[in-house]
Amino acid sequence: MFTLTPETPDDWWEVEALYDLCFAPGRTALSSYRLRDDVAPVAELCLNARDREGYLAGAIRYWPVQVGGAAALLLGPVAVHPTHQGEGLGGLLINASLHRARDEGWSRVMLVGDAPYYARFGFEKLDGVNMPPPTNPDRVLGYALRPGAWDGITGDVTRAG
Ligand SMILES: CC(C)(COP(=O)(O)OP(=O)(O)OC[C@H]1O[C@@H](n2cnc3c(N)ncnc32)[C@H](O)[C@@H]1OP(=O)(O)O)[C@@H](O)C(=O)NCCC(=O)NCCS
Repeated sequence: MFTLTPETPDDWWEVEALYDLCFAPGRTALSSYRLRDDVAPVAELCLNARDREGYLAGAIRYWPVQVGGAAALLLGPVAVHPTHQGEGLGGLLINASLHRARDEGWSRVMLVGDAPYYARFGFEKLDGVNMPPPTNPDRVLGYALRPGAWDGITGDVTRAG
């Protein structure tokens, strides 16, 4: 029903419009966006989901970050068009991109989000990992793409490179 393809530069503003529709106004003021400023997303992990007519139904993006000096992926934003929410598309985008991330050699993923949703993909609260304020620490979640990849990884989350 949906086709997943890597996002291209031509898709950028269509994805931005979807995020504007799905998130509260002012989303780019969130501290997680400061980690994305002037940093290129991880292109091969940014996926678009289109329906049979080619309309954008969902999108996920990733950025590289550093956590206490260790490389990690920052998952997000991820959003599904309101007309397609609850059909499993969010899960499809997340699972497909996590598989790609593992195949690409990444070890760990983090995000800021709702634990009740992301727990189903294996995300757990990250203790000792500090997002730029203001961020609710209970919403800082991590997932190990390789066993033990988050063990001993603590510190401030900073922009990559
Ligand atoms: C969050 C979002 C990406 C999920 O996509 P989706 O395609 O609707 O999700 P799925 O169909 O894969 O999963 C639906 C399930 O997730 C649950 N769910 C969705 N959002 C949730 C949330 N914020 N907290 C807890 N559960 C949530 C639904 O209740 C449903 O539960 P069920 O399987 O028990 O019925 C989508 O709802 C969305 O775009 N929301 C607005 C933007 C947003 O909040 N993005 C995430 C930022 S943290």
